[in-house]
Amino acid sequence: MVSRDILRRYESLKKEIARHDRLYYVLDSPEIDDSSYDRMMRELLELEREHPTLVSDDSPSRRVGGRPLDGFLKVVHSHPMLSLDDVFDVSELRSFLSRATGPVSSFPWVCELKIDGLAVSLIYEDGVFVGGATRGDGSVGEDVTSNLLTVRSLPLRLNIDVPGRLEVRGEVYMAKNSFARLNERREEKGDPLFANPRNAAAGSLRQLDPRVAAERRLDLFVYAVVSPEERGINSQSDLLSWLKKAGLPVQDAWELCSDLDEVEEFVARWQEERFSLSYVTDGVVVKADPVEQWGRLGRTARAPRWAVAYKYPPEEKTTVLKEIEISVGRTGAMTPVAILEPVQLAGSVVRRASLHNEDEIRRKDVRIGDRVKVRKAGEIIPEIVSVDSEARNGTEIPFEMPRNCPICGSEAVRLPDESAWRCPNKSCPAQMNEELRHFASRGCMDIRGLGERVASQLVGSGFVRDLADLYELKEEQIISLDRMGPKSASNLISAIRGSKDRPLAALLAGLGIRHVGKGVAELLVERYGSMEALRRADPEELGSIEGVGPAIAASLEAFFSDDGNIRTLDRLMDHGVRMEERRPETSSDGKLLSGMTFVFTGELKRASRSEAQKLVKSMGGKATSSVSGKTSYVVAGESPGSKLDKAVSLGIPVLDEDGFYEMVESLAGNEKEE
Ligand code: IVH
Repeated sequence: MVSRDILRRYESLKKEIARHDRLYYVLDSPEIDDSSYDRMMRELLELEREHPTLVSDDSPSRRVGGRPLDGFLKVVHSHPMLSLDDVFDVSELRSFLSRATGPVSSFPWVCELKIDGLAVSLIYEDGVFVGGATRGDGSVGEDVTSNLLTVRSLPLRLNIDVPGRLEVRGEVYMAKNSFARLNERREEKGDPLFANPRNAAAGSLRQLDPRVAAERRLDLFVYAVVSPEERGINSQSDLLSWLKKAGLPVQDAWELCSDLDEVEEFVARWQEERFSLSYVTDGVVVKADPVEQWGRLGRTARAPRWAVAYKYPPEEKTTVLKEIEISVGRTGAMTPVAILEPVQLAGSVVRRASLHNEDEIRRKDVRIGDRVKVRKAGEIIPEIVSVDSEARNGTEIPFEMPRNCPICGSEAVRLPDESAWRCPNKSCPAQMNEELRHFASRGCMDIRGLGERVASQLVGSGFVRDLADLYELKEEQIISLDRMGPKSASNLISAIRGSKDRPLAALLAGLGIRHVGKGVAELLVERYGSMEALRRADPEELGSIEGVGPAIAASLEAFFSDDGNIRTLDRLMDHGVRMEERRPETSSDGKLLSGMTFVFTGELKRASRSEAQKLVKSMGGKATSSVSGKTSYVVAGESPGSKLDKAVSLGIPVLDEDGFYEMVESLAGNEKEE
C-alpha cells in the first residue's frame, strides 16, 4: 500500500518535472539549474523503485532507458497522412491559392513555416501520450513510440482536459546545433555524415535502440489535429492556439493573412529571417484558415487542395578557394579545411568549409585557387558542392595531405579502411582534453572528480600536457583551478593515486588507442599479460587473434611507433601505474581471492551484500565491514556511504558492482585457461 503522502509527493514531482521540461525544452526559459532538476528526477525514480505500483503512463521515467527493439511494429493510420503539393515561385503560389479561393468567395489563409523534419502522428488517450508513428507511405507507418518518448518537447500529459482519443500530427526535427554536433562527432570517428538535419532526424527516429535517439536530441513541432471539428475547432488559427494551450510545442511564427498580398509578404519576409532560427525551414506552408473550406476543397490522392508548400530555392554561392588548412580534431583526425574568399550565404558570411578528407578532395578534384560552389548543410555547416573546372587558368594547385601533424609534428598515419589521416601522438595538444577525460572515465582509470570540466581546466592551465603529468600534480595546483576547494583537491589527488593499480585492461582502454576499447583491451591483456609484451608483439600475430584483426593491429602498431607515446608509457610506469596483469596466486578456484580483503558499501543490485560477501569468502578472500590500510578493494554500489570517502582518502582502489563481478569472473576465467 502506498501512503497518501507518498502519492501526493509523487504526483507533485511528476507535475513539477513536466513543467520544467516545458520551460526548458519548449519555452527555452528554464527556471532552475540542472542539478535541481536532476535531484527531482532522482527522487521520482527512487519513489518508483520503492513503489512500482506508482509508475504511470505520464511518468517522466518513461523517457529514460527503453530497451532496444528487434524491429518496429506497423501502424495503420486512422486517416491518411497526406503530403503537400509544392510551388517554387510566387506566381505558382498565387495561382494555386486563387484557384482554391475561387472567383467570388474569399477567406483568410494561415502561413506557417515548413519545418524540415519528418511527419509523425501522436496519440493521446484522455490527455496522456500513449504512442506515435512515422508517416510511412501515408497509410501505414511505423510505431516509434520508444524513440518519441526521448523527445523532451513532447508532453506526456496535456495541460488541458481532452477526453478520449486525440490524434495530433507534427514534425520531428533536429535543431541546427544538434545536427552540427552530431556530424562533428561522426567526422571525428570517421562515420559517414548526414547530409541534412532531416536525414539525421529520420535516421535517429528509426533507430532500434532508443538510447541512440536520446543522445541525438530530437525536437518536435505540432501543426494538425485529426477531425478538429469534433473538438469544436473551426479554423487552423484556433487549432494552433488550442495545441499551444494544451502544452504541445507549436512553432510561433505563424500568421493569419487576410489576402494573397499578406501571404506573399510573409513568404518574402521569412526568406532571410529563417536563417536566424535554431532549426531549418525549407519553405512556407499556406493553409486555408476555415476548417469548412477543407471539406469543400477536398484533396487529390496525395495532397489536400486547401494547403500548399512554397519551397525556398536552395542557397548556393560561388567563391574562390584561397588555401587549404589542416585542422586537428579531438581524436587526432586531420581534416582539410578550405579557406574561402568570404561570401554571404544563408544568413552569415562564410570563410571556411570542411573538405572532410583526402578522398573527398580527390573525388571533387578541388585545387587551391579554384572557383567553387558552396552551400550550407542544415543551414549551418558550409560545404563545397562542386568545382567550376571551366573557370581554371592553369595556376590552380592540386593539394597534397601533409605527412605530419601541423600541431605537434608527429608523423601522421592513415589506418586501413579509414578515410582520415590522424596524428597518433596521444599527447598532441589538440587531443589532450579529450584524451584526459577518456583516460579518467569510468570504464577506464575511473578517477572520480576528473570529468570534462576539470580535464579541460587541467589542460588549459598547462598542468597536464601528457597523461603522465597527472601523476605529478600537486594539491596546490589543483586548488588554484576554478571552483576547486582543498577538500576536492585532496580527493582528486587520492583518486589519481588510487588509479595506479587499475587492471591493465583499464589502462590500455584508457590510452585512447583507436579501435581499442574495453573489450579489445581485455582480449589483448589476456593474450599478452603486460604492456611490454604487447608492445613487442608481432603485428601479424596480433592481427590473427580472434576479435582483434588487422585494423586493430595496425592501430596498435601506429601507437607504439610514436616516440611521444612511448615516453608517456615510460613515465606512467615510473609513477607506479600498473603495466602488468595481476595473476591469480593460487591454482584452485577456492583460493583465487586469497590475501585480498573486500569491503562492500552502498546498495548492490546483482546480489545482496551478504551473498557477495559469501562469494568473496568462497574464493578464499576476506570480507570485512570497515575500511583500513589492509583493505584491497572497496566495492561501491548505489548511494555508497562514508566508506567510499575513506577508501578514496586512503587511495584504496574502488570497484563498482559490475567491476567487481568482472574481476571475479576474469580471475576465474584466467584460472581455467592456465
Ligand atoms: S501540414 C495535410 N504543416 O511537409 C497537411 N506540414 O511536404 C499535411 N511539414 O508531410 C501537412 N512543416 O511532414 C504541414 N507547418 C507544417 C509543416 C508540414 C513541415 C511537412 C510534413 C508534410 C510535408 C509536406
